[in-house]
Amino acid sequence: MTSSTPFPADFLWGGATAANQIEGAYNEGGKGLSIQDVMPQGIATPRTEGPTDDNLKQVAIDFYHRYAEDIALFAEMGFKTFRFSIAWSRVFPLGDESEPNEEGLAFYDRVLDECEKHGIEPLVTISHYETPLHLTETYDGWVNRDLIGFYERYARVLFARYGTRVKYWLTFNEINSVLHAPLMSGGINTPKDQLSTTDLYQAIHNELVASALATKAARELAPQAQIGCMVLAMPAYPLTPDPDDVMASLTTERTNLAFGDIHVRGEYPGYYLRSLRDQGVELVITDEDRALLKEHTVDFVSFSYYMSVAETADDSKRIIGEGNIMGGVSNPTLQASEWGWQIDPVGLRIVLNQFWDRWQKPLFIVENGLGARDQLVEVDGRKTVIDDYRIDYLNDHLVQVGEAITDGVDVMGYTSWGCIDIVSASTAQLSKRYGFIYVDRNDDGTGTLDRYKKKSFDWYAEVISSNGASLTR
Ligand code: BG6
Repeated sequence: MTSSTPFPADFLWGGATAANQIEGAYNEGGKGLSIQDVMPQGIATPRTEGPTDDNLKQVAIDFYHRYAEDIALFAEMGFKTFRFSIAWSRVFPLGDESEPNEEGLAFYDRVLDECEKHGIEPLVTISHYETPLHLTETYDGWVNRDLIGFYERYARVLFARYGTRVKYWLTFNEINSVLHAPLMSGGINTPKDQLSTTDLYQAIHNELVASALATKAARELAPQAQIGCMVLAMPAYPLTPDPDDVMASLTTERTNLAFGDIHVRGEYPGYYLRSLRDQGVELVITDEDRALLKEHTVDFVSFSYYMSVAETADDSKRIIGEGNIMGGVSNPTLQASEWGWQIDPVGLRIVLNQFWDRWQKPLFIVENGLGARDQLVEVDGRKTVIDDYRIDYLNDHLVQVGEAITDGVDVMGYTSWGCIDIVSASTAQLSKRYGFIYVDRNDDGTGTLDRYKKKSFDWYAEVISSNGASLTR
């Protein structure tokens, strides 16, 4: 650590992606269909019957064929780590087979080869919004306890195959988002408006047990592995100082904090049990489930952070912004992105302090970034994007990460979301771009798929090489 930067020398700088948003090759290499193949519009519209040609994710940014070129670009920026997910349906095309698909596993061997070639530490998400479609249609996704066993088998295959090569693992992406996006997050086929509260919370319980079983499997098969949970972090500020608003904001925050509490402490908190009782929910929880949760807690807590929301007890004051999948009341003091996500760098420092105070576990920011429309221009004969808005967003958030580290918070690393342009999860657009690297592909599917470095590419390279000293405070 130099005197001009709060970031520790081993800070894991990098970028993050998910298989369904980058790979394409949706039916190559023996891959089965996933829920993403019937969600051409993201979460805005009901699922389709089968795959449709308007689904940008079928090709996405063609990472499946261009991974070497892309990882080389990440290395050029100096990435210490690269977060990607393994597509469950590439490894188990249906999800409930007994033997994995070798061709799928071999693809991730090649991705890991490239990471190793460049000295990039992989950070692997086991399940990122891509439940095999067969599990959704046959079992109703995580509502069914059978998924625990299928997931455990899948996780064991991954640890056995890659356990010596991958140190950092995340069990479920944004596990708390199932509350709001049951199909995308929980692979649940029953439409949200017909899903019973009991089934929803049973699905959550099943995922939590599966996460504990994966942690247990990692301890056996990959003892040096570090297992993290991954939650969508979104502070909910009281809209006014009225104690009822403060209580309302605490209640909202707890709907998310519960997931960290369970992963870290290994048991359901009292406020969560009360909320289940109040909703008349009775879950099937076995003694063995309780023991698994208690014995196999996580090594670190990872999270995504894009924005904060406000909360109020007064329904007449509820002005709902566009928001993330979690929705929320708009905060009148904040500006929003073009997609209505309210920009709040200080909120990241607040979350880091809150999580550290609460759990005393190392924290990893595995998603943060600005989705924006970019314009490709030519400067000195080279195509690029002058994305000062993205640089400002990332700079201001990273400054707050530095503040939190100075506050004494243990932060392992930071992977900015969509380090290369990808297909959006919520809207399935390519025009909602997050990357340091522009991908020539449009919402109508046209484009060469060529890659171009944006202005932020050099900016981030400088941030990494200076270990954060180049940030503008
Ligand atoms: C998170 C997801 O919710 O936010 C990612 O883990 C997603 O998969 C990211 O892409 C940004 O959301 P969006 O809808 O802009 O892609």
